[in-house]
Amino acid sequence: MIPESFIQDLLARVDIVDLIDSYVPLKKAGANYAACCPFHNEKTPSFTVSPSKQFYHCFGCGAHGTAIGFVMEYQGVGFVDAVKDLAGRAGLAVPEAEGRGGHEEKPGQMRGLVEVMAKAAAYYKEQLKRSPRAVDYCKKRGLSGEIAARFGIGYAPDGWQNLQAVFPDYNDEALRQAGLVIDNDSGRRYDRFRDRLMIPIVNPKGDIIAFGGRIIDQGEPKYLNSPETPLFEKGRELFGLPQARHALRETDTAIVTEGYMDVIALAQNGVGNAVATLGTATTATHVQKLLRQVDRVVFCFDGDNAGQKAAWRALENSLEALADNKRLGFVFLPAEDDPDSFIRSRGKEAFDRLVREAMPLSDFLLRELARRCDLTSSEGKAQLIYEAKPLLHKLPTPLLRLQLVKRLAEASGFAQGEVERLCELKSYAPPAPPKARRAAPSLSRNLLRLVLQHPELAARLPVNLLAETPERAALVRLQAEAAASGGRLTYATLRERLRGAPEESLVDQVAGEALASPFDTGEVTEEFNDCLEKLKEGEHKRAFAELQAKVQRLGVNGLTPEEKQDYLRRLSSPGNKR
Ligand code: UTP
Ligand code: MN
Repeated sequence: MIPESFIQDLLARVDIVDLIDSYVPLKKAGANYAACCPFHNEKTPSFTVSPSKQFYHCFGCGAHGTAIGFVMEYQGVGFVDAVKDLAGRAGLAVPEAEGRGGHEEKPGQMRGLVEVMAKAAAYYKEQLKRSPRAVDYCKKRGLSGEIAARFGIGYAPDGWQNLQAVFPDYNDEALRQAGLVIDNDSGRRYDRFRDRLMIPIVNPKGDIIAFGGRIIDQGEPKYLNSPETPLFEKGRELFGLPQARHALRETDTAIVTEGYMDVIALAQNGVGNAVATLGTATTATHVQKLLRQVDRVVFCFDGDNAGQKAAWRALENSLEALADNKRLGFVFLPAEDDPDSFIRSRGKEAFDRLVREAMPLSDFLLRELARRCDLTSSEGKAQLIYEAKPLLHKLPTPLLRLQLVKRLAEASGFAQGEVERLCELKSYAPPAPPKARRAAPSLSRNLLRLVLQHPELAARLPVNLLAETPERAALVRLQAEAAASGGRLTYATLRERLRGAPEESLVDQVAGEALASPFDTGEVTEEFNDCLEKLKEGEHKRAFAELQAKVQRLGVNGLTPEEKQDYLRRLSSPGNKR
């Protein structure tokens, strides 16, 4: 666990405007900053950053959060990684953050490794220009200088210790930790990459975290990759993600391929929205990362048997990352092709068509299961349901699951209810109709806006006087969090404390309303007191009506002495004068 006080320090140290501006150029717009939203496609800017409250809010898609939330969303990383990233920027050490895989992780050390990798990459790039053989190889594969530059492609020349001339201290521990050199058993150090085309793997922050080194022409191994290092964890990273960002937004689709050269060749031929897993199976983390940025992911693996298998693995691993508003598709290339060879021989139009017409997940799933079972026999039909069960269980999407159940029922000859029972699925209950929303802003909504604009007001809220509404629940929560957060009460710290709470989305929405039409500082106190006044008046009316009803039923003497006193007091209060 990262201590709360550290989160407060961090949020106080990082300026969200600088942070976001380093990814998405911001323009000043009144008291705030604006840009086109990086989280959905738009032509006019509805993404707003508040420097005074230190949060961002998109009036188009509802994206909302603090600096930490932004890094999580934008880089597709978890909370701890986002905190580490920001801490690194701010020069703070994260206390008690659990390390990954036993690696020591200090912000200083990480920055050191990033610097070492950048320096090596610059050297390799320089060397590419000096190697006609490597340049020829790139040309032979159809790569322009522009694309080579876009992917930062370089060349590690032949020779055992070329990096000695690049780094002042070749024995620096950082070189080994970054995976650039290898120490052999007799303590001699040599360069890991020799005579290879160097393809940098860049994280969403823009840091080079690893290299893939391809042999020129033929040879074994075809690729030599950086080992796992404190910077690089294979199963999480996608090659080409930062380079694809713009095209991902444009197309709202991500194409997942198997290889470095697939991504590069697709980009060369005008398909910029491709990424690659790094010689590993597609993981749920990969798919989650992509589905944060696009609504459609299309897998396009090699046409060979291995590619077919990889597609099925991708299907199995992606199910849990799906949502009903997200789509997955599968492209099956001719057996002799990979995306690289296909686009080079058939062109962009043909490739675009394949992606457009990709087989939907449901079709692939049913086709593959049907292929495994002999659906002409009763045994085969039973087996179909047996095989489908674990897959259906992974699907978090009620609508798509229902569709699949219906089709499985059809194919197997069971009734829909039987399939559901056999697969132990809860049958789908449509969600309760949403409660009608009041048109006028309610008292508690107004209070919520005020408290989000001025969190210190939370302490003064008589929450027990509020009617049971979602707004009240949020106010109760905010009051508790405000009390628990000690002195340094800001919107951003409060918002971080709500992470994962059920009140989150309402708070985001209302904070957006407060951003769009904030109360003037001068009118805040007045407005707040006014709300409290109204609340008390309402409470008085309710209590008085209750007592009066009792009096009518039982007479004045039916009241307890306390009630009687209360009744008389309320009777003479100004609120009851008609
Ligand atoms: P491929 O063999 O399909 O490579 O392996 P490719 O990217 O299409 O490269 P070319 O076109 O043959 O030059 C797919 C991915 O598997 C990993 C690499 O990440 C590669 O991009 N791989 C493959 C390795 O790590 N090592 C290998 O020896 C081979
Ligand atoms: Mn290839």
